[in-house]
Amino acid sequence: MSKRSFASDNNAGVHPEIIEAIKAANDGHVVAYGDDPFTERATKLFQKHFGRDVAVYFVFGGTGANVLGLKSIINSYQAVICAETAHVNVDECGAPEKFTGCKLLTVQTPDGKLRVEQIRPLLHAIGVEHHVQPGVITISQATEMGTVYTRKELKTLADFAHENGMLLHVDGARLANAAVSLNTTLKEITADAGVDVLSFGGTKNGMMYGEAVVFFDKKRATDFKYIRKQGMHLPSKMRFISAQFEALLSGGMWRRGATHANRMAQILGSELAKVPQIKLTQPVESNGVFAVIPRKYVPSLQKKYFFYVWDEEISEVRLMASFDTTEDDIRDFIEFVRTTVK
Ligand SMILES: Cc1ncc(COP(=O)(O)O)c(C=O)c1O
Repeated sequence: MSKRSFASDNNAGVHPEIIEAIKAANDGHVVAYGDDPFTERATKLFQKHFGRDVAVYFVFGGTGANVLGLKSIINSYQAVICAETAHVNVDECGAPEKFTGCKLLTVQTPDGKLRVEQIRPLLHAIGVEHHVQPGVITISQATEMGTVYTRKELKTLADFAHENGMLLHVDGARLANAAVSLNTTLKEITADAGVDVLSFGGTKNGMMYGEAVVFFDKKRATDFKYIRKQGMHLPSKMRFISAQFEALLSGGMWRRGATHANRMAQILGSELAKVPQIKLTQPVESNGVFAVIPRKYVPSLQKKYFFYVWDEEISEVRLMASFDTTEDDIRDFIEFVRTTVK
């Protein structure tokens, strides 16, 4: 068996329950492109978890979910406000700019979270035709720094967006981890907080592939089926994404996987913090641990455990736990860290 490391929750395999769901869906023919019973059932589950009136569309991946979700609520003369560290800004190869035609207005944040005071200065040119018009605030929940917006912080951002003629989009590649961290339902940190459009991720929580774009006001979704097809994200064998979401959302698997990953990150973080040469840089609020490890030790650690250096300038690394991380994995890693840095 290949070794589990802490590089990414995307490096994990597929949860056995998901494999079973895919296998079970692999029976006979059903109508392609989403007109099938699996998609109908999965859609109902989204409505159960996020509210009866949501419109939900499945796509292949997270970048596609973000880009197409944004495209459907913005015009190219408008701007998307995001954290400098946001996936849409640093990890999507300019796809949001290319496909929406919009400028991203980035905000520096120490912890990956956007706050109203940081956004307000970007609104001075509203109504001035020489300037892009802020149209959407997009945030990641949990953030790329492993931090989590509280319900109050979400509501404040949503209210601020709406008061200023903008919408709130959430990149929820790790929304499950955030809900577990806050001990809330999925609805409480989306629909109830005033979120307008959500990318809901399954891949990082045990699915093989597939994400969902969720609209909390159906009226905003009227053109989405065309946008999705033109954006090359209409899966023909949709049932295999739908069956995975059904497995994830029907029996509490989403919460189990995220609870485990978050707990593993807590243990990893607290064990790392005991190593005198290592300093955590962010509170561990979801399944990510961020820490400064002195530069000279990083190559030896990476020889045995693959992981990413997040900020080269300060030798900050990112370590991620996933649904399949074990306490033994952590113990072995910490032992190796201790012998390497001494
Ligand atoms: C915050 C965030 N958003 C979205 C994604 C989805 O990206 P992908 O297009 O690789 O599925 C990721 C994956 O790493 C992510 O970390």
